[in-house]
Amino acid sequence: MHNAFLIGERIYLRPLSKEDVPQILTYLNDGEVARTLNWHRPLTKEAEEQWLDKVLVDERQTVLAIALKENDRFLGGTGLRPGLEKDRRAEFGIYIGAKEEWNKGYGTEATRLIVGYGFETLNLNRIYLHVFACNRGGIRAYEKAGFIKEGVLRQNAYFEGRYQDTLVMGLLREEWLAQGAEKQ
Ligand SMILES: CC(C)(COP(=O)(O)OP(=O)(O)OC[C@H]1O[C@@H](n2cnc3c(N)ncnc32)[C@H](O)[C@@H]1OP(=O)(O)O)[C@@H](O)C(=O)NCCC(=O)NCCS
Repeated sequence: MHNAFLIGERIYLRPLSKEDVPQILTYLNDGEVARTLNWHRPLTKEAEEQWLDKVLVDERQTVLAIALKENDRFLGGTGLRPGLEKDRRAEFGIYIGAKEEWNKGYGTEATRLIVGYGFETLNLNRIYLHVFACNRGGIRAYEKAGFIKEGVLRQNAYFEGRYQDTLVMGLLREEWLAQGAEKQ
């Protein structure tokens, strides 16, 4: 492992670096990865480097790379975007750009790791996400990590030729703690 920050069973999360940018571009410019991220513009090296310059020094942001323990392969990224300080809330996001690694449980594992960090270290009270209703794999991974469907934003996004619904899913600190207690 290199520069591991949060360590799971098969993956670990580490800080992103500018050296990751070429691989990030390959991942996020791939239509199959980008489609469920609602990402619709070409991503450039310059834009990605500028974004990294900003978020890596912003202590409110959590932005991490997902890597495989067995060979350090960089699989994708995940992060928590904070809301107002007083609300103790953050929005969760994730992508695994290595498509051949989908459906192996890595998304669920990465979600659990960063959510645990959010509640236990950052002292968040609520973590939530938005996911297209058609993104069955994403919804399943979030449910496995403990997220609950909270509501539907009808026709929230224009996607593949039509307006599609977006789900809001959330996980509260008290629910996360109760899940931990159940496992013991
Ligand atoms: C969403 C994403 C992070 C999930 O990561 P992952 O490693 O593939 O997820 P996991 O393997 O942990 O879990 C996926 C689950 O969904 C299931 N699944 C996949 N496709 C499915 C489908 N069409 N219908 C029902 N379940 C499905 C898998 O079988 C698995 O469940 P299981 O373990 O019970 O068998 C990943 O697919 C991804 O990055 N996709 C592209 C970008 C994206 O959509 N990001 C999220 C935006 S909200």
